[in-house]
Amino acid sequence: MNGAEPIIETHDLTRRFGQLTAVDHLNLTVAPGEIFGLVGPDGAGKTTTLRLLCGLMNPTEGSARVAGCDVVTESQKVKDQIGYMAQRFGLYVDLTVQENMEFYADLFDITGAERDRLTVELLRMTRMEEFRGRQAGRLSGGMKQKLALMCTLLHKPRILFLDEPTNGVDPVSRRDFWAILYQLLKDGTTIFITTAYLDEAERMNRVGLMYRGRLVRCAPPEELRREAGAVNLEGAFISTIRELEAART
Ligand SMILES: Nc1ncnc2c1ncn2[C@@H]1O[C@H](COP(=O)(O)OP(=O)(O)OP(=O)(O)O)[C@@H](O)[C@H]1O
Ligand SMILES: [Mg+2]
Repeated sequence: MNGAEPIIETHDLTRRFGQLTAVDHLNLTVAPGEIFGLVGPDGAGKTTTLRLLCGLMNPTEGSARVAGCDVVTESQKVKDQIGYMAQRFGLYVDLTVQENMEFYADLFDITGAERDRLTVELLRMTRMEEFRGRQAGRLSGGMKQKLALMCTLLHKPRILFLDEPTNGVDPVSRRDFWAILYQLLKDGTTIFITTAYLDEAERMNRVGLMYRGRLVRCAPPEELRREAGAVNLEGAFISTIRELEAART
C-alpha cells in the first residue's frame, strides 16, 4: 500500500437482495495509482460491488469511501471523479464513433474546443482515428470496448471502474486494450477492474477473489500463486474454489 491514504476503502460493505447476500461484509482498500482486480465465478457479487462503489446503488449495511467521499451521502462527488464502464455499456449502435463520443461529452458538459481536443486525443490513444465515422453497431467487439472506454474517459476520471471490459474480445485486441490501461496507470489513474480472464489478473497489483459475496482471497498475484502452490492464478483459484465448494457440502 506504499503508505498512501487509500483512494477506495470499504467497511463491511454489504448488499442484500431479499434473502440473497450479493456482497457480504466486504473490507478492502485500494491505493492511489494501483490496479486492483476482482475475479470470481458468475454471480459472485463483482458487478454489485462496482455499482456500490460508484454510488449507483446503496448498501444494505456497511460503508465505502471513494476519492475521500462517502458513496451514499456524497454520491455526486464520487460520480464526478470516477469513470464507470458497465458490463453492458450503453453504446448507440446507429450513431458513429464520433457521435457516441459527442453524446457522452454532452452528458458530462464537455463542449466546444475542449470536446474536440479530447476526442482527438482519445481516438489517437486508442488508435481508432480511422473509425470515427463508422457506426458503433458495425465495429468489432474489441473496437466497441475501446469506444466504451473512450466514452468513460471523456471527463478525465481519476478512478476507473471497469466491469469485464475485455469480455468476448479476441487476444490481440485484449492486448491493445491493456496497452491503453497501462498508459492510464502511468498517468496516475487508479483502476478497479473485474475480469473473467485470469491471465489478465496476473497483470494486476493485487487481486481479490470473490465467492458468494465474500472476499475470500486478496493479495498480489505472486503471493496467491505461492500460497496455493500453483503455477498460475487459474490453478490457485480453481483449488481455492474447490475447497470452498467441498466445505459447503
Ligand atoms: N438488482 C438485483 N436484484 C436481485 N438480485 C440481484 C440484483 N443484482 C444482482 N443480483 C444477484 O446478486 C448476485 C451477484 O450478482 P452480480 O451481478 O454482482 O455478480 P457478478 O459477480 O458480477 O456475476 P457475473 O460474473 O455473471 O457478471 C447474483 O446472484 C445476482 O443474481
Ligand atoms: Mg458481473
